[in-house]
Amino acid sequence: ESAEGGNEAKSYREVMSSLPRVKNLSANDCYLYQGFWYDSLFLERLMSAQDHFIPLSTDIFITSCPKTGTTWLKALTFAICTRSRLSGSSASSLLTKMPHECVPLLEYDLAQNPLKRDCAVPLVSTHVPYSSLPKSIISSCCKMIYICRDAKDAFVSLWYFIADMQRSKNVEPVSLEEAFELFCSGISSYGPYWDHVLGYWRASLEFPEKILFLTYEEMKRDTAAHVKKLAEFMGCSFTAEEEEEGEVQKIVSMCSFEKLSNLEVNKNGMHSLDTSYAVKNSVFFRKGEIGDWENNLTPEMGARLDDIMEQKLKGSGLKL
Ligand code: A3P
Repeated sequence: ESAEGGNEAKSYREVMSSLPRVKNLSANDCYLYQGFWYDSLFLERLMSAQDHFIPLSTDIFITSCPKTGTTWLKALTFAICTRSRLSGSSASSLLTKMPHECVPLLEYDLAQNPLKRDCAVPLVSTHVPYSSLPKSIISSCCKMIYICRDAKDAFVSLWYFIADMQRSKNVEPVSLEEAFELFCSGISSYGPYWDHVLGYWRASLEFPEKILFLTYEEMKRDTAAHVKKLAEFMGCSFTAEEEEEGEVQKIVSMCSFEKLSNLEVNKNGMHSLDTSYAVKNSVFFRKGEIGDWENNLTPEMGARLDDIMEQKLKGSGLKL
């Protein structure tokens, strides 16, 4: 670590020590920074990215709150923009690398080493809320694709993810009820969930040509139409010839839950950011369905979260 880097890290830690702090769903400390909750692992790097990250003019940002379909969207966008280079999905890196390894994470991979990426693939992912994105991104012409999902399903997905991670560390997972209380009070990584969604929603209304706002549910209902829409938005539409050759359907199948979750790399591989965040790739592929909250939350819990979302989104024009 250079002296300058060391001083900088120290000053970020000083900022962190002055922030409101609580235990989050995974019983780790999380910090309230610019209106959102962050795990320490990502916050320090986010601050560094805010100070230093410069996007390439060709970058496209894959943005989301955790557990809303990020892995799927990464796979789809990666498959779309590498399709000609790799001459068909049979050669895709997605067969041997998990989607998170194909698309770097801004507030982890690129905060300190902006070149840790394949510059031929113009994709960068982030969970950072719109209002805290580095200014260099906001003022750039870079496009962004945002995905979100029914809050109840996002919560259930998050709870399973955390419980899985805790179990692998031999830690007793937080109960579903406790986790639900935290989530409803806005405390979850990169939460409050509703504020995350609203930030990108409003930005997408203001800059529709720059920000494509998608939901997991609409992507599930008609994935092929969304693959075409994504390609068009990304500036690499399918040609009539490609469509005739079934290229769209090949990408839909390649990135489907069934296909990806059954690949060796995603069944038995590990995804590790650092030792405290090593997780099995398989935890990113749980059920891949709409409405699984019903099997996990009581109707009362569901209604409560629906009410919260309705109130928070009131007047925004968005219904989730
Ligand atoms: P469930 O836990 O409801 O199954 P993220 O990628 O943002 O972490 O979101 C994870 C959610 O997306 C999980 O939801 C996971 O199963 C689902 N998912 C992962 N890959 C998918 C795919 N190819 N198609 C549809 N859903 C997928």
